[in-house]
Amino acid sequence: MDTSERDATRPSEQEAHRLDQADPGHRHLFHVPPADGGRYPQAAYLAGNSLGLQPRATRAELLADLDAWGRLGVEGHLEADRPWLPYHELLTGPVARLVGARPAEAVVMNSLTVNLHLLMVGFYRPAGRRTRIVIEDGAFPSDSYAVRSQARLHGLDPDATVVRLRPRDGEDTLRTADVLGFLAAEGDTVALVLLGGVNYLTGELMDIPAITAAGRAAGAVVGWDLAHAAGNVPLALHDWDVDFAAWCSYKYLNSGPGALAGVFVHERHLGRADLIRLEGWWSTEAATRFEMTPVSRPPATAEAWQVSNPPIFAMGPVRTSLELFDSVGMPALRERSVRLTGYLERLLDEVTAGRPLRVVTPREPERRGCQLSVRIGGGSAGELTKRLRHEHGVIADAREPDVVRFAPVPLYSTYHDCWRVADALAVTVESQP
Ligand SMILES: Cc1ncc(COP(=O)(O)O)c(C=O)c1O
Repeated sequence: MDTSERDATRPSEQEAHRLDQADPGHRHLFHVPPADGGRYPQAAYLAGNSLGLQPRATRAELLADLDAWGRLGVEGHLEADRPWLPYHELLTGPVARLVGARPAEAVVMNSLTVNLHLLMVGFYRPAGRRTRIVIEDGAFPSDSYAVRSQARLHGLDPDATVVRLRPRDGEDTLRTADVLGFLAAEGDTVALVLLGGVNYLTGELMDIPAITAAGRAAGAVVGWDLAHAAGNVPLALHDWDVDFAAWCSYKYLNSGPGALAGVFVHERHLGRADLIRLEGWWSTEAATRFEMTPVSRPPATAEAWQVSNPPIFAMGPVRTSLELFDSVGMPALRERSVRLTGYLERLLDEVTAGRPLRVVTPREPERRGCQLSVRIGGGSAGELTKRLRHEHGVIADAREPDVVRFAPVPLYSTYHDCWRVADALAVTVESQP
């Protein structure tokens, strides 16, 4: 293809601007980093699946909490405008609505992998033939390390205990039917199913209700890592009968690097005396916490999984962000997400046609969130994203050796960002050695 033919097939920038006028999103509520290269002042930020952007409201809210400490010292526990003792309760309603939980079923605490461990202490109880843990072969490594160490905690061989479900040969994503088939055939050996709701690499959204139902019917406990799902796709964890779930807040929940994470425990497990939890003073009911008794009295809520008193200054950004999700609403965000990702998909298809690059994320909107992953078919993903950033101001995310992930986030990404991705990719791959 010569350059003039290439230009003729390039998508129109005017079209992107028109779409942005018609479907503007909420970009004005966020800080968008400046571009590191290219001809636009702001970056086209497509890495919200890695680290979400900072809401403009976060700074003032955080400073207000900090000021309360300065003014009140220890009295802030009870006298701050947002008293610290019950601070975490401010997050419970919005986070529960976000993931489709009842308020008693959700709590914000710790970080994601720590929470997975705290949950697995009770929910992974290998016994008899039922010892295995099912994850996806393409699970985020932290989950793989976590379940392998849980197997060792029980004196089991991780290689024999952890089952890694793979896509079929020549395919990029896991078929739900294959997961269900495995559970039907071998479910009686499975103690725990722990899958990613949206796969971090391919962007595939699993059929959470179907897999949960099949795992539970097989007698296993079913938990979900929702790092790439929370704030990205609508969730109904209570209605889907999920046993437990955990997610982080630094990606789609825009709460800052290493932000506090969230946990869901289904109502049927709340208050269960037989379920092991690791405890600390925040595991006991709030009303009697300061009676300083030697034996805890855990509430029949997910708060019983808390161990320590929470870091208030880390809770502030999560609270601010959750309030934003609450006011915009996941249904509206999902609708914009489907439009925005569909647009990017069309542009990427135009760019990748006739080239070794291809989109590996499922094509059906109901099988994905906002992320599209492109396998670049040669060369280094890291080198490509460096060029996108420094030559075009496009911030995307590389997973070596050959996957580049683009996530148009419905809260703040624009159609013009998507257009810039496609345009930059076309120019970059054309000029690759
Ligand atoms: C799917 C998934 N699980 C787990 C983690 C690890 O999270 P953390 O370091 O917050 O425990 C990540 C991090 O990106 C992730 O994407």
